[in-house]
Amino acid sequence: KATPPRISVIGTGYLGATHAAAMAEMGFEVVGVDVDPKKVEALSAGKVPFFEPGLPELIVKHVQSGRLRFTTDIAEATAMSDVHFICVGTPQQRGSNAANLKFVEDATSAVASSMTHDGLIVGKSTVPVGTGMRLREIVAGALPDGVSAELIWNPEFLREGKAVMDTLAPDRIVFGGASEQAEALMRVVYAMPIATGTPVIACDLPTAELVKVSANAFLATKISFINAIAEVCEAAGADVSVLADALGHDVRIGRQFLNAGLGFGGGCLPKDIRALMYRSSELGAYSAASLMQQVDEINMGQRQRVIDLALSALGGSVLNRRIGVLGAAFKPHTDDVRDSPALNVAAALHLRGAQVVVFDPEAGATAKAMFPTLTYVDNMEDAVADADALLVLTEWAEFVDADPVKMHELVNTPVVIDARNCLDADAWRGAGWDFRALGRPAPVAAPSVPVTTGPLRTLVAAR
Ligand code: UDX
Repeated sequence: KATPPRISVIGTGYLGATHAAAMAEMGFEVVGVDVDPKKVEALSAGKVPFFEPGLPELIVKHVQSGRLRFTTDIAEATAMSDVHFICVGTPQQRGSNAANLKFVEDATSAVASSMTHDGLIVGKSTVPVGTGMRLREIVAGALPDGVSAELIWNPEFLREGKAVMDTLAPDRIVFGGASEQAEALMRVVYAMPIATGTPVIACDLPTAELVKVSANAFLATKISFINAIAEVCEAAGADVSVLADALGHDVRIGRQFLNAGLGFGGGCLPKDIRALMYRSSELGAYSAASLMQQVDEINMGQRQRVIDLALSALGGSVLNRRIGVLGAAFKPHTDDVRDSPALNVAAALHLRGAQVVVFDPEAGATAKAMFPTLTYVDNMEDAVADADALLVLTEWAEFVDADPVKMHELVNTPVVIDARNCLDADAWRGAGWDFRALGRPAPVAAPSVPVTTGPLRTLVAAR
């Protein structure tokens, strides 16, 4: 029986830490590598430096089982492994829409130059199409004499907050640019999810890179589409939430990613659509570039629309008004505030002179580190107390389930802005709130002339 491949994972952020733990869970010996000694120390002690449900338990389990360890020494990790996963970040470049590929290039070059025996380098990071080809040149130039390596792309599709399940049981597995031997090795590495029916798509290198980028671009487009329709709903007196439910019943459309509101944020979608905008322009593929530009513009415009809603609810100015903000994370089930629409809106209102009081069940500390000038409280009631307006900016279950009657007793002025379309409008209105949301205008009074005409009444009665 062949010995199982040993695995190194370069980069232990969301992607790398989860992938390393998942590979250990699948039975492999894994070493995670990071340049940050604090991260390595924390992970080695079973502590995850960010909030991700289920991940700490999995890391503790396999640090204890001895299958998983972490180091800052890339050469040592490379020497003891056969398959090297590149899981470092590709953030947006300062002052440009392009992705910064420095970390991917450095990590790949460091792995290749420290290889002591033949192996497989597997890119997982989200990269502009064409990156893998360039990295192959870097690998060829860095490999020691007598050692050979193949570089393939195997994009990762995990969502924050669901990272563990997405990694252990992905929707699909994509191998790009793999030789027959490399594909056989990858089928060993992913034997567990493949055995339970996960489809495998083997393709060329650029297709694999582009699958990931276009998956994120499609999701972003879906969100901006529904937000554009929400604007029409508002102008025409229609309700975007009901409309989204009705659209979603069409299996070709589907209900997911049709929640209108404050729009998308986080460490992936915004920078990935901008990188696609940049890369497709470079390639002369202008349709994708202009589509992505529209998607980005609509999305960023949503933040301003929520600010405008707050301004109009408070009579044109927020100066010295107390605003309770529920939510700072870019979405529920994470403490991530990177490019968070919620925190953006809160900060903008603060800049206009409001006293902004923020509560988030998990992201208070990360938000405070990014915007220390806002006021942060430890519970929802303290954010609501004496507020002149309440803004729900992240749809945590705690906010969705909040009792509008109790909240009404706490506020100064019962104005609520549901920027995620997550609250029960009738219940809040019923409790006396001035309820406002994007794409869901206040219902107009019923027409005074009865609509049910004589013949229709006869038809209904005849049944
Ligand atoms: C995303 C992709 O989903 C994932 O496959 C990829 O690997 C990384 O990027 P993530 O950034 O974790 O994952 O968040 P996701 O759940 O996709 O949400 C992105 C943003 O869209 C959030 O800000 C969320 O609030 C917003 N969103 C989502 C909407 O505004 N409306 C929706 O209907 C759905």
